[in-house]
Amino acid sequence: MPTLRLPGLTDVHVHLREPGYERKEDFFTGTVAALAGGITTVLDMPNTQPPTSTPEHFREKAALAAQKIVCDLGLYIGATTTWGDAYLPVAAQACGLKIYVSETFGSLRIEDLALMHRFFRSWSETADLLGYRSSEIPHGIGPVAVHAEELMLPVCVELADLYDVPLHVVHVSRRSEVELLVRAKERGRRVTFEATPHHLFLSQADLPRLGALGDMRPKLGTPDDVAALWQHLDAIDVFATDHAPHTLADKGVTAPAESPPPGVPGVETMLPLLLTAVDEGRLSVEDIIARCVIAPRRIFGLPEQPDTYVEVDIDTRFELTNSAVRSKCGWTPFAGRTVIGRVERVVMRGKAALEGGRVVASPGEGVLLFQDRPSG
Ligand code: NCD
Ligand code: ZN
Repeated sequence: MPTLRLPGLTDVHVHLREPGYERKEDFFTGTVAALAGGITTVLDMPNTQPPTSTPEHFREKAALAAQKIVCDLGLYIGATTTWGDAYLPVAAQACGLKIYVSETFGSLRIEDLALMHRFFRSWSETADLLGYRSSEIPHGIGPVAVHAEELMLPVCVELADLYDVPLHVVHVSRRSEVELLVRAKERGRRVTFEATPHHLFLSQADLPRLGALGDMRPKLGTPDDVAALWQHLDAIDVFATDHAPHTLADKGVTAPAESPPPGVPGVETMLPLLLTAVDEGRLSVEDIIARCVIAPRRIFGLPEQPDTYVEVDIDTRFELTNSAVRSKCGWTPFAGRTVIGRVERVVMRGKAALEGGRVVASPGEGVLLFQDRPSG
């Protein structure tokens, strides 16, 4: 059996749901699922209940995570209409500031330009205060990460430029958005962006088959949007899953649901999907390492993980199934797909964390990142 050895991957966009939505996922199950997908670092989003938007809520969440995680984890803080920039005292302990400007799950959507100015300005001032002025050396503070679709995208690119903060655009899905970002990069803007496996490997053509399980934000693109992502692969900085687990009952599959929330899980299936694309000649292993290891480290200032690697069987084909899913949600939109790239073993800091597909790390063995960075 040919075994491929890769560095531990980073997923810069996951929703581990704690606190508030533990029926969907928690810090233990979410990080177990990540390890099963060859991921040894995750960055967790702030749209929990309560949202991670005040120093108090941030510290509570960090304390919860520290006891349960089996891989390393960083926490985003989130901009809200309610609490303004109250989070600033913990800015340096977060991996970045997340601003939701487009339709999403949860209560964090911002649509007010004056508020947007305020968030970008105060993040920039905090960056100055902490002595952080380069996207290449984020030792003091992380980037502003935005969910900005359609016309909100150029607004965010412009604000980031006006206030001189590094911008990371999450789950880019449309041709128009990719082309705008390619142009922005050519013009020297300090912007990076991610694409998800579901936007790379699924399209609207899959919706009749997937039904509610094909609903997420941004929605699945047209085949032409998918083609644009592949065409501009070189410009895509990061592959990130937007792991957004919701139970089958929440999704309206096993019980009636009035307005099923958008979102699909992804940490367990990203690496097999990408390695299958390598097998098909659409990607190289170096492309994966560049986008799932090197760029996340650079953009978010992540520490190296010494003696940390993943062993993957790239010989045996297997079918992705709902029953094999470790995430609490218990399903994947890729069920039925034949792939290669089963993760056999994960070693973290010289110690086995997953062996023969079974997680052997104990809760709390993952490291909570950025907690020792000097704050303002
Ligand atoms: C995410 C979720 O469920 O938290 N859903 C989604 O469709 N992507 C929210 C988000 O990432 O915007
Ligand atoms: Zn998300």
